[in-house]
Amino acid sequence: MTPEWEASADLVVVGSGVAGLTAALRAREAGLRVVVVTKSAISDGNTRWAQGGIAVVLPGGHESGDSAQRHAADTIAAGGGLCESAAVTSILAGGPAAVARLRRRGAVFDAAADGALALGREGGHSAFRVVHAGGDATGAEVERALADSVRRAAIPVLEQHLAAQVLLAGSGAAAGLLVLAAGTGVPDRPGVVRAQSVLLATGGLGQLYQVTSNPAVATADGLALALRAGAAVADVEFVQFHPTVLYTGPGVSGTAPLVTEALRGAGAVLVDAAGDRLMAGVHPLADLAPRDVVAAAITRRMAAAPSGVGDHVFLDATHLGPAEFGRRFPGVRAACQAVGIDPARQPIPVAPAAHYHCGGVVTDLRGRTSVPGLFAAGEVARTGLHGANRLASNSLVEGLVMGERAAAATGARPPDRHPPEPGPSSGPLLPVATDLGALRRLMSRHAAIGRDRAGLAAAQAGIARSVTQRLPAGRADYEAAALTLAARVVLTAAAARTESRGCHVRTDFVGRDDAEWRRSLVLRLDESGVPEVAGAVLATAAR
Ligand code: SIN
Repeated sequence: MTPEWEASADLVVVGSGVAGLTAALRAREAGLRVVVVTKSAISDGNTRWAQGGIAVVLPGGHESGDSAQRHAADTIAAGGGLCESAAVTSILAGGPAAVARLRRRGAVFDAAADGALALGREGGHSAFRVVHAGGDATGAEVERALADSVRRAAIPVLEQHLAAQVLLAGSGAAAGLLVLAAGTGVPDRPGVVRAQSVLLATGGLGQLYQVTSNPAVATADGLALALRAGAAVADVEFVQFHPTVLYTGPGVSGTAPLVTEALRGAGAVLVDAAGDRLMAGVHPLADLAPRDVVAAAITRRMAAAPSGVGDHVFLDATHLGPAEFGRRFPGVRAACQAVGIDPARQPIPVAPAAHYHCGGVVTDLRGRTSVPGLFAAGEVARTGLHGANRLASNSLVEGLVMGERAAAATGARPPDRHPPEPGPSSGPLLPVATDLGALRRLMSRHAAIGRDRAGLAAAQAGIARSVTQRLPAGRADYEAAALTLAARVVLTAAAARTESRGCHVRTDFVGRDDAEWRRSLVLRLDESGVPEVAGAVLATAAR
């Protein structure tokens, strides 16, 4: 693939979600030349779909008795013993300033009757501390405010451009990107963006599974780019399933509308087809238990149900009534009404779906990966905040804080008077699964909620049989290659972790084994590009 065009910048940001746009704005404020590369339109990322909000303890604006320490304790409890205490303290401490900055950039949050910001509650939180916008449209408002700011700052955004490869200098440092102009109906035009720093902010890997709350762009691109550049990843076995996406019928696949946890924060309860409560007695927080606990309980109840009703349960929010439901949850109401359900009058059919990758590219608290000049922020990164199971609404706060810090860290890199020459930019041969439908079926059957040794091995073998080694021909091929690699990485880590913890539920190793496994698995690619466990990092959080 011969590059047909070239651009240069101090920082190239891949992805236009909350972390990427925050980083671009910060870099521009610091006087850096920054370019954003996004394979779709600027607002098509995952951020837009976030419903619940931003978890933050605002000085002078929090529930009585709440504190940053309580928020940290809830995060660590949800994280199943694998959070890094320094990451939890540091990132959550950055929340109030990040929200204030976002408001200065134009984001408007919902206000309570007294004029203070209205606070919602979600699973795993011991207090009302989730700020939200447009009822259940927080992500859309955050994305709008950041995208408007980026336009006002005239930051170049290469829309419909796919990052195909991180280019490395002879020293091994990142030196730019091989990019494919990949608009629909437009012939793919490869180009090179030379940059001293590359920031991956590409989101997650929901499209690995048959049903996901993630949009079509969530194809693990950043994880694959980082691994192929030599970076380490960790906690990748922890794929969080949201307990409640809208169930629209048997065998439906693809992106499913989220039914926000904030509904349970407002008193909605999970029931089965017989109307029996699911969460009573399962956890002290009942319907507001951490997400992994609720998703696993739903999965167990579905498995025990008579055939025909075993693929969903119900969320009963009828206590809210039509006016309150419409005011607080307009997005969920619209999604329900689109499939003929009136959620203020009838229980909403729901099922778990792939939602968030708790692990990712290992970074420090300045967004630096193990490859000099390569940074990562947001869902693609693993800072140690989430551990084995992310606390609800901690992702936007992480993206805001770490996007800002990563950009600051790129600015702090000493300017290179002789910018490194990127090495060959033809792009390597990559393993590509030829049938993504089959790959998703394997992952959903064997690597979702409930995994065992035989199933994980069957998934690995099935993927190996369907893979061909080729030079990706365009965007679809690169996405398939990224998903193929992500599947292998998740399966390798899931097979290695012989216990159950957080989002990783092993039916052949029931229960948590702290003596052996209170550690994060670190993976890299070996010389032939195969994922291998390269080490382990002991967890530092208190429990
Ligand atoms: C939700 O609104 O339930 C999702 C929020 C999140 O994933 O943090």
